[in-house]
Amino acid sequence: MTDHIIVTDDGFIRTIQFNRPEKKNAILHAMYAKITDAMRDADVNPSIRVIVFKGTPGSFTAGNDMMDFVKGQRPEAKPHADSQPVRMFLKALPEIQTPMVAIVDGIAVGVGVTMLMHCDLVYCSPNASFMTPFTALGLVPEAASSLLMPAAIGHQQAAELLLLSKPINAKDALRMGFVTRVFKASKLEKKAKKEIDALAALPPSAVREAKRLMRRLPEPVADRMAVEGKAFSARLSSEEFTEAASAFMSRRKPDFSKFK
Ligand code: COA
Repeated sequence: MTDHIIVTDDGFIRTIQFNRPEKKNAILHAMYAKITDAMRDADVNPSIRVIVFKGTPGSFTAGNDMMDFVKGQRPEAKPHADSQPVRMFLKALPEIQTPMVAIVDGIAVGVGVTMLMHCDLVYCSPNASFMTPFTALGLVPEAASSLLMPAAIGHQQAAELLLLSKPINAKDALRMGFVTRVFKASKLEKKAKKEIDALAALPPSAVREAKRLMRRLPEPVADRMAVEGKAFSARLSSEEFTEAASAFMSRRKPDFSKFK
């Protein structure tokens, strides 16, 4: 079987790569489990100072695998269990103390965007596109994005993504402030690496402490995730999501006109 998540260590840097390009790097349960293990392990490994997430050319990730979303709602899958790989991944995001950097080329959808709110630096190419189609799928935001995104970029800007489900291009993402810098696609990896190397060369305890201080928010992120998690699970069993998922799978436009 192909390795859908590739983990490599190079000096102080651990890179976690989404590698399922034929499905735009949509994330399966097993992939969440491997990513979480790699993050947790890096966080207690004193020789790792930076965690980097990247995808494949043209795709960061299309978010949660749609089929897994649907399968995950069956009672035997225990959708509400904290041991669900996706929940364990979401829980890890705010708990990781090691700085996290994302390199985004092409599409980032759903959790592929909301996880960026937990990354300390985000570098993307001009062809990056950011989409959080939660409402379009009959769902609600997750990963504490309903808290972190309005706090980071302002309610009205966040509403374009989280309420309107509108795709945002690299230029707008930079203007809104959830991307650190945009680099030419051909230079993206090289230029991002320069910044990542600089971060890894700084005093590691000071960097972690600075991150901890910067991440202090009025409402604990974990509390917001729990509230979102309940709403999200309920939405996954809604008729609106069922319509959106079946439309995606049969490649037709969803019809929400019958819903009140
Ligand atoms: N889950 C499962 N499969 C996915 C997927 C996802 N989230 N995103 C893409 N794929 C699959 C497609 O079904 C297709 O598979 P196929 O070749 O076997 O038919 C393949 O990846 C390529 O996707 P395609 O839609 O043909 O590419 P595109 O460039 O036209 O569009 C996206 C790319 C990401 C815009 C589009 O695939 C999409 O909207 N995906 C759903 C994203 C989503 O809603 N994620 C959940 C957010 S909560």
